[in-house]
Amino acid sequence: MKLAPARRINGQLRLPGDKSISHRSALIAALASGSSEISNFSTARDCAATIGCLQDLGISVERQNRKLLFAGGQTLTQPSKPLDCGNSGTTLRILTGVLAGHDLTAELAGDESLSSRPMRRVIEPLELMGAKIQATSGKAPLKIRGSRNLAPITYKLPVASAQVKSAILFAGLNAEGRTTVIEPSRSRDHTERLFNGFGVPVTTSADLAVALDGPGRFTGGSITIPGDISSAAYFIAAAMLLPGSQLTIEAVGLNPTRAAFLSVLSSWGGDISTTGLQTARNEPYGTINVRGGITRIAGDKERTLRQSMIPSLIDELPLLAVVGSQIEGGIRIHDAGELRVKESDRLAGTAANLRAMGAEVEEFDDGLSVLGPAPLRGASIDSHGDHRIAMAFSVAALIADGETEIGGSECVAISFPEFFGLLESLVVR
Ligand code: S3P
Repeated sequence: MKLAPARRINGQLRLPGDKSISHRSALIAALASGSSEISNFSTARDCAATIGCLQDLGISVERQNRKLLFAGGQTLTQPSKPLDCGNSGTTLRILTGVLAGHDLTAELAGDESLSSRPMRRVIEPLELMGAKIQATSGKAPLKIRGSRNLAPITYKLPVASAQVKSAILFAGLNAEGRTTVIEPSRSRDHTERLFNGFGVPVTTSADLAVALDGPGRFTGGSITIPGDISSAAYFIAAAMLLPGSQLTIEAVGLNPTRAAFLSVLSSWGGDISTTGLQTARNEPYGTINVRGGITRIAGDKERTLRQSMIPSLIDELPLLAVVGSQIEGGIRIHDAGELRVKESDRLAGTAANLRAMGAEVEEFDDGLSVLGPAPLRGASIDSHGDHRIAMAFSVAALIADGETEIGGSECVAISFPEFFGLLESLVVR
């Protein structure tokens, strides 16, 4: 994909449903005693992988565009072939937790990127609960033999991960007694909110211990999934970086464990407001308004992102590095080593691509320092097949001098197939 610079962003839009909420809603609906109707389901290829795996496990789903209908009282059955999780870490890790509590054997496989990502983080707690899981050097494909009689555990996560927390909580539905997950810092809490919203009480204490009492079964019901804030992020950043822009995004998820980048951009001088807050099954959503331009100079403290802030910014960090290249004094990211084991090594990819566009970047084991403000020039960008890198550098392309080519740009479909079409509809040249 070739992208020319833009003068500003102008428009109003609604987005397909949040990817994380879509995965979880589908899994909950598949396991529920009553029927479910999920509206505004994500169009992401990752979420289609979750639906495909559920179908291969014998779950019937009726699809009407972005609406999914599930009958209640279905049961998972032995799949006849390996479950294809594609590029989706969320599908593979959470589904492993679901299968841990079922009396069947299954193989979970993924593409090359997913097969190189660490899986010991789910294998260890699920084996402690009684599942048997085979892997090669802690990587997918995973062969799982589940059990209906799992033991509840109290498990301290070595790294903050919503996927691992969720895998343990889904497994805890089939364990008799209290399953507790303790996080080092708070990761996205969609699983907790949706379990509560669909009839399985989950508590979270001040020391980040998340607990449920098993066995538990969801009631089923309807939900309209709020727009994906991680998809919205690219348009919000582009609007902020292009003076004169006006952007409104309606019905977008505003869960505090996901929306932290809005406060970071505001602290960096962005003119961003949220209005009309409502909730869907405990998930907050509302309207985001952005006016273009950086209105003030941020202090040193605001320009350093670290520790407990990182999990709630995790998918937006490559984009924040791009924005950081335009901030007076630049920005620093620390304690973000997890970025090296995402769909690609996002620290290396972000640093190399920013340098290709003329920015000065220092790479640490666990982060980046980006000097700013730096004029960017059009360049040839390698997305490494990583959707978030492709979209972050599409934003950089809009503020660069000259044309930018995003290599492997079709990977945006992993989370946001409509990305380039919507971007073109918003851009004023
Ligand atoms: C996700 C959790 C995060 C995030 C991913 C989606 C989820 O991963 O990066 O895009 O839906 O639970 P980790 O749990 O590995 O941090």
